[in-house]
Amino acid sequence: MKYNFDNWIDRKDTMSQKWDAQETNFPDNPGALPMWVADMDFPCPGPIVDAVVKRAAHPIYGYSKIGSDSAVLSARWQKKRRGWDVDPDWITFSNGIVPALNAIVTAFTKPGEGVIIQPPVYYPFREAVENNGRTLVNNNLVYKDGKWGINFDELEKLAAEENNKLLLFCHPLNPVSRVLTKEELFKIADICVRNQVLIAADEIHHDLVFPHCRFYSLASLSGEIAGQTITATAPSKTFNIAGLQMSALIIPNKELKRKFEEEMQRRCYIPNLFGAVAFEAAYSHPECEEYLEQLLEYLWGNYLYTDEYLKKYMPGITCQKPDATYLLWLDFRKLKMKGKELETFCLKEAGLALDSGEWFGGEGEGYMRINIGCPRSLLKQALEQLKEAYDKRGF
Ligand SMILES: Cc1ncc(COP(=O)(O)O)c(C=O)c1O
Repeated sequence: MKYNFDNWIDRKDTMSQKWDAQETNFPDNPGALPMWVADMDFPCPGPIVDAVVKRAAHPIYGYSKIGSDSAVLSARWQKKRRGWDVDPDWITFSNGIVPALNAIVTAFTKPGEGVIIQPPVYYPFREAVENNGRTLVNNNLVYKDGKWGINFDELEKLAAEENNKLLLFCHPLNPVSRVLTKEELFKIADICVRNQVLIAADEIHHDLVFPHCRFYSLASLSGEIAGQTITATAPSKTFNIAGLQMSALIIPNKELKRKFEEEMQRRCYIPNLFGAVAFEAAYSHPECEEYLEQLLEYLWGNYLYTDEYLKKYMPGITCQKPDATYLLWLDFRKLKMKGKELETFCLKEAGLALDSGEWFGGEGEGYMRINIGCPRSLLKQALEQLKEAYDKRGF
């Protein structure tokens, strides 16, 4: 099946966080083009729609139960896409990865204990630490030789501190859109294993990796690493079904899995019926993999389009070549605008609702994250709006 990602589908009045909550999220310009929250303006694969519609036609939507097939399908997906041999018994579920990260923080650390994050990073990581009364420990990413990477010396010191118990690790790195090498992953794992720091690896974007990179799941590198790692995965970003809130946690260590499940029970976790249906369809139907290959090609085209457009018309703004995701990390630092001024420029002058680099912490100031998971016509409109504002300022 050939998907046409150029097709524009109006999402207004569909209870969309991105399109229907602009008044609340961007009150200074609710009419701005929403290119922030990480979902795409593309339909999900046909087999997922069919499965959900079929289940919706049955008129009783009572409490749901995840079938044992879900774990088998999820393990099969890991093997096929990443070559990782996952035992279905290692798999458990949650209503999204952010809820799972919060559950990990409360299950495996005590109030006041240190949780390491690596900013600039997806801001719910910071919130999961602070909102649960744990101590935020920053191991900022460093920008060197044109690439963002890990500050290993600092990680070594932080991991050795007795109070620091957990690393929330985001891979591929969001928002800087990097896939780490096997060597880098081994270094992170080695530091954590030696210092008995538990790793929660959020690999939600793992399917959206471009062909120039090879993605390794951290836990797949050795049995010892797997024993100290909780891996969070989902079909939500891959197939644009984030609103269905269904994720899989891979936890080979039985004791860790038991503790995590107990915590989810305390949080009264019940799987979302339509999420469970979509999950199985996503991982079982071959057409979904075809969709993914076509999607990656289209997203890469959107990146090239953005990069060329910026180089041609707005050389003061540069775009980091992405290894993964539909989120581009735009560097505005040459324009000497920062913080509120940069946010206002994008929102009010260019009419674009983007994620401010500062929200992600660390060295994020002077950057903006733009979501290019949309038809090219919308992307073109966004870039034209940005150009108009850029030209008006005389940059
Ligand atoms: C790194 C990362 N983790 C988690 C999420 C959200 O996961 P969920 O919707 O399953 O809670 C996102 C969404 O943008 C993300 O980028």
